Amino acid sequence: MKLCIIGSGYVGLVSGACFAEVGHHVICVDNNEKKVAQLLNGEVPIYEPGLEELLHRNVAAGRLSFTTSTEEGVDKSDVVFIAVPTPPQPDGSVDLSYIEKVAREISAVLKPGQYRVIVDKSTVPVKTGEKVADTIRRYNKGSAEFDVVSNPEFLREGCAVPDLMKPDRIVIGGNSERAVALMQKIYEPFMAPVLVTDINSAELIKHAANSFLALKISYINAVARICEASGADVEKVADGIGMDKRIGRNFLNAGIGYGGSCFPKDIAAFIAISEDLGVPFTLLKEVEKINLTQRERFIAKIRETLWVLKDKKIAIWGLTFKPDTDDVRSSVAVQIVQDLVAEGADVVTYDPKGADKAIEFQLIQGARIAQSPLEAAKGAEALIIATEWNEFTKVDLSELKKAMHTPVIFDGRNLLDPETVRSAGFAYTSVGRN
Ligand code: UGA
Repeated sequence: MKLCIIGSGYVGLVSGACFAEVGHHVICVDNNEKKVAQLLNGEVPIYEPGLEELLHRNVAAGRLSFTTSTEEGVDKSDVVFIAVPTPPQPDGSVDLSYIEKVAREISAVLKPGQYRVIVDKSTVPVKTGEKVADTIRRYNKGSAEFDVVSNPEFLREGCAVPDLMKPDRIVIGGNSERAVALMQKIYEPFMAPVLVTDINSAELIKHAANSFLALKISYINAVARICEASGADVEKVADGIGMDKRIGRNFLNAGIGYGGSCFPKDIAAFIAISEDLGVPFTLLKEVEKINLTQRERFIAKIRETLWVLKDKKIAIWGLTFKPDTDDVRSSVAVQIVQDLVAEGADVVTYDPKGADKAIEFQLIQGARIAQSPLEAAKGAEALIIATEWNEFTKVDLSELKKAMHTPVIFDGRNLLDPETVRSAGFAYTSVGRN
């Protein structure tokens, strides 16, 4: 099938590449000329394992192309996906101006007699599909034929390609049989379970899913506090409750809290949506509060041990919001760097992929950047592990001890084994483990 994807961010670009990989013809549209030029040049603007290879292969096969022209994309495609950002506003509600702008742009180029399915893939508040349809209808003067569908995306950064190629489920929210049939055809090659719903339910599924996952994380972080107070081990508790199939072990890893471009924004949005609808989802406010105070408690533990942070040399391993990505948006690791710099500490960071973006967005001003974990730890009075990159598990502990001024580790992701680290001569503090 011929597909157009408007917006070449994480979701748009990876979706485009995966649709092409299964044989569809895909045109990716982005209004950022620099990004499109990079893509046309074979450069990939984001780090995502497997993506570069996928893009190159499908461009070479003639199934994937890039343009800045919405008209070209819409003209040449049967189905048009919207995958533009939906950033948060200061009050937590979602800024839908990019979606609205794209809806108007599509309406301006839709021609009479040209049936198109307009699919919203961006994460949007319930009832956005209705507004997209109204907008296209209002602005299109030639009475174009179209249907709007909601098709939320559930990929995780860092494993976006496998998540898209082998999804747990595909959700198609549509109110027209013709549009739903086309969507089912697009997804047939993925051989995944498909759930067909109305548009509003599909939109809600996305916010409800992310909020539930965030709730699981905050739940285990709250349990971790009880473990710390009682001498229990949160890893064992998570294993024990996770063995119940109704609960499951995933997303029960305690730590310094969730970050990234999705959970913080989506939980705030779902709270705002619920309030708008007159049914405030107060439980989610507690989820947010636990997440925020999880970082504050971690900093308090560091202060408790080091006493004064001013002028202390502190190494921080990890800047990205999780491993296997270069994404530093709303990263708890970055927030910890900022907290410590603000307290006057001499911070040296190392991250395998995230440093460039952290510098580009001016997120770690006042901190220095090292080229390896050991270089960051050299002369440090404490080491903080803020992101669970596998590379950090490979560092030789005796080398690390030699490099540091005082062997003190604060492990915010429970990455290392307490017994091993302590027997190597370190003072070691983690989350929910004594
Ligand atoms: C999340 C969802 O998992 C995806 O299903 C969804 O499609 C995506 O948001 C989105 O809305 O686009 P992502 O933000 O890429 O994906 O990352 P996650 O793997 O969910 O991790 C989010 C945060 O939770 C990270 O900071 C991670 O460190 C933290 N986390 C995760 C924990 O603290 N504990 C856990 O057990 C799991």
